[in-house]
Amino acid sequence: MKTALTLSGSIRQGSYNRVLQQHMGRALTQAGVAVTEIDLGDFPMPIFNEDLEAENVPEAAVRLAEMWRSHDIVFIASPEYNGGASPLIINTITWLSRQKPSPFRHAVFGIGGVSSGKYGTIWGLSHLRESLTKVGTLVVPTLLGIGPAEGAFDANGDPTEPAIIRKVEQMVTELTSFSR
Ligand SMILES: Cc1cc2nc3c(=O)[nH]c(=O)nc-3n(C[C@H](O)[C@H](O)[C@H](O)COP(=O)(O)O)c2cc1C
Repeated sequence: MKTALTLSGSIRQGSYNRVLQQHMGRALTQAGVAVTEIDLGDFPMPIFNEDLEAENVPEAAVRLAEMWRSHDIVFIASPEYNGGASPLIINTITWLSRQKPSPFRHAVFGIGGVSSGKYGTIWGLSHLRESLTKVGTLVVPTLLGIGPAEGAFDANGDPTEPAIIRKVEQMVTELTSFSR
């Protein structure tokens, strides 16, 4: 059985990206994948500073890197902040990029995002894809950008737009059939 780890680049209460994380978790479970859902709030890491590395690699970075290495699939839902990925996601990737062996070269990654704007995180996802690819990650091609957030999900946390439902199915197919 394949395994997946899901996370959200927003840890605020009521986060739409958390809703997307949970929806993708259910979609992967239905496809026969064993899903572990994590909250980055449980993986505290200070803002990256090389001076901290010598003596003080956060235990959360070591723990999360091992989780990325030991799952077949990683799904990241990230909000868009000022046209880029969220600072929480970038800080997490930065710390993990310093862990050995690389946590980016085992799992197949899917990325998605929800934003209040109508462009639905397309710039944030481009930024995230670029950064992940630069450190050797295989990111599946589906662009799962959702916006505006309001009305994008029903009361069960499932997408309301047929086009988004199709994209989720497409991403699940890619995540479960690509391997490295
Ligand atoms: C600092 C900041 C920058 C933002 N920049 C963008 C942006 O570039 N594009 C966009 O569509 N929404 C932007 N937003 C709005 C977010 O899309 C919105 O707050 C979204 O709900 C955040 O995701 P969350 O609900 O998962 O926390 C920004 C919000 C904040 C706080």
